[in-house]
Amino acid sequence: MSRPPAIGSPHSRVEGRLKVTGKAPYAADHVIEGTVYGAIVDSTVGRGRITGIDTRAAQAHPGVLRVISHLNAPRLPYNPNPGYANSNNPPGDRLRAFQDDRVQFFGQPVAVVVATTLEAAQHGARLVDVRYDAEQPSTDLTSAPADDPMTYERGDAEAALQSAAVKLAMTYRTARNHHNPMEPHATIARWNGLRLTVWDKTQWVPGTQIELAAVFGLPAASVRVISPYVGGGFGSGLRCWPHVVVAAIAARELGRPVKVVLSRRQMYFGTGFRPAYEYGVRLGSDRSGRLTAMTHDVRAETSSYETFTEGIMGAGQMLYTTANVSQQYRTVPLDVNTPIWMRGPGWATTSFALESAIDELAHELNLDPLELRRRNEPANDQSSGLPFSTRRLRECYTVGAREFGWQRRNPKPRSTREGDWLIGTGMATGVYDTSRNNALAHVRLDADGTAVVQAATSDMGPGTYTSMTQVAADSLGLAMPDVDFRLGDSTMPRVPPHGGSQTMASVGSAVQDGALQVRQLAIQLAVADGRSPLYGVAPGNIVATDGRLHVTNNPRRGETYQRLLSRNNRTHLEALGSFERPAQDRFSLHAYSAVFAEVAVDRQLGLVRLRRMLGVYDAGRIINPKLADSQAIGGMVGGIGTALLEHTVTDHRDGRIVNANLADYLVPVNADITQLRAIYLDGHDAEADPIGVKGLGELVMIGVAAAVANAVFHATGRRIRELPITAEALL
Ligand code: MOS
Repeated sequence: MSRPPAIGSPHSRVEGRLKVTGKAPYAADHVIEGTVYGAIVDSTVGRGRITGIDTRAAQAHPGVLRVISHLNAPRLPYNPNPGYANSNNPPGDRLRAFQDDRVQFFGQPVAVVVATTLEAAQHGARLVDVRYDAEQPSTDLTSAPADDPMTYERGDAEAALQSAAVKLAMTYRTARNHHNPMEPHATIARWNGLRLTVWDKTQWVPGTQIELAAVFGLPAASVRVISPYVGGGFGSGLRCWPHVVVAAIAARELGRPVKVVLSRRQMYFGTGFRPAYEYGVRLGSDRSGRLTAMTHDVRAETSSYETFTEGIMGAGQMLYTTANVSQQYRTVPLDVNTPIWMRGPGWATTSFALESAIDELAHELNLDPLELRRRNEPANDQSSGLPFSTRRLRECYTVGAREFGWQRRNPKPRSTREGDWLIGTGMATGVYDTSRNNALAHVRLDADGTAVVQAATSDMGPGTYTSMTQVAADSLGLAMPDVDFRLGDSTMPRVPPHGGSQTMASVGSAVQDGALQVRQLAIQLAVADGRSPLYGVAPGNIVATDGRLHVTNNPRRGETYQRLLSRNNRTHLEALGSFERPAQDRFSLHAYSAVFAEVAVDRQLGLVRLRRMLGVYDAGRIINPKLADSQAIGGMVGGIGTALLEHTVTDHRDGRIVNANLADYLVPVNADITQLRAIYLDGHDAEADPIGVKGLGELVMIGVAAAVANAVFHATGRRIRELPITAEALL
């Protein structure tokens, strides 16, 4: 009897036991002999110059070995920016740790204290006295001047708006958000001569390798990055941050391994963040709700030294049928550290504005929000002219409405009350582009009938160890325990960033390719081997299951991999699997969702309570429904956080982040979350990639905030256009 396929089964995480027993080494957990500790001193002004650093008290503190700053740090090559494709560094001049006296944002690393213990390093860092010539930082998105816009034009949006029967103009605002993964960012750096090894928290092992090589002027092969476990990321690990370089500088200067762990406070300016936005939308439609024009006028934070942009413009161009679209996307350089992608990057922000606006139009037209969306469902992608590979959005609406009980809804706002609680429901559409990029994976089948599969990817939480094991097991015809999937080492085959929901599509397809190649090698060995029961059988008539090759219609005619390899004196069979992104896509590739929310709002206190949420996802094939649920629930919780709680607050007087801790930066806790339910319209998307996935991890965050805001409007009759939606805004 052959076992059911691993793909599609709700397998628990293969590394789960290691994690819950504390045996999985996260970045700071690696025990490297001779390690000393670095504590970063960060600037206490938001802009200016360092005029002096008094290190005497720190140097005198017991255990302190060295204080390193721009005054005594080596001048590093900082070779030209490897650029976005190799390092995820956005255009600009990346922050150069300890290379000069400039301060470009509040919290910038200005020194590191290295000591024999963590306590001595931390205390020493407090004793360093840095003097500044401070200037007034510019940190307010609403008042600072913007760069030239990126633009998109289709038709004549201004003229179409002029003549539209129905016109709406709104401005939405979203707060800066921080990723706040449970595991802080951490690096241990060690030099052996001119070779650098870092144990690092990263979502892109090869990207960190390339950037460190560029900073120190080394060949990439001289830098090794090891990152087997990542305790959450949400995007914060998608590039190599200054503290990684600081750890490597300190290790080189001291001649010993140095460990640097960012404090929770330092996580707010030592990595990136989801930038704050001002997002203007104008809609024009006819009386029946057919969109005739749409404009998007967007301003977003970036740093003074790098221009960070993200996928803001995609949804407005392709989600709804609209002949006339005009978009302007401006970055606003501020004296802040550079932002980075955060879950559902760009698309989540656009979806709050666009899906709130569509809800406003539905209300204006007295139309059901689902019906309005159905009337604007396009036949193809109007931005590219390409057909959709798969787009099952109508099905998302139908299934969602049925399962959520949408038809029981009284469309009139503020129509449902339970005591002091105003009850409302709302929905929003989610869309995220399916990205995938070139990836490699090495597959080796050993003579004992087990396989080792390797790729330099990460697993920040989606369950990559497990899903890749599933793919390899099915392709090789092995049981999951007989497959050992390894990741997180730059000596492994190269992969794209573990982000943008592209890992399953890219690395998963490479794993499948490598495993199928190895299976084919085994079949060729068998059919040419006079001693094999499969001798002379047509290769196409042979399948692999349960660690055996056998004739398709005759399971008894066959043999195990073990017997085949040992009889042929082969220690192993191996192959390098690959996935290559097509030069040109012939289809518009996107994953879709419909998100439904029910809220209760206390009419006296303005408190918003989420009652239930349903997401219906068209994300292609689902490799593991248990992991998918974990993604979906996490994404909904993240979206609820964005909608109701999360807000990084800056004091514009000096550029300080005033709530750089988990007590004052609010995230949803268990008490905030009730019923979250996910439904997948499981289905292979053959145009997306060989394994048929469209990406799930980003999608599940998108549309959530708008669904909540639309439910708040339905509950209260109050349209809140600024996130997070606070009690104050509802009073
Ligand atoms: Mo995701 S924002 O690319 O980690």
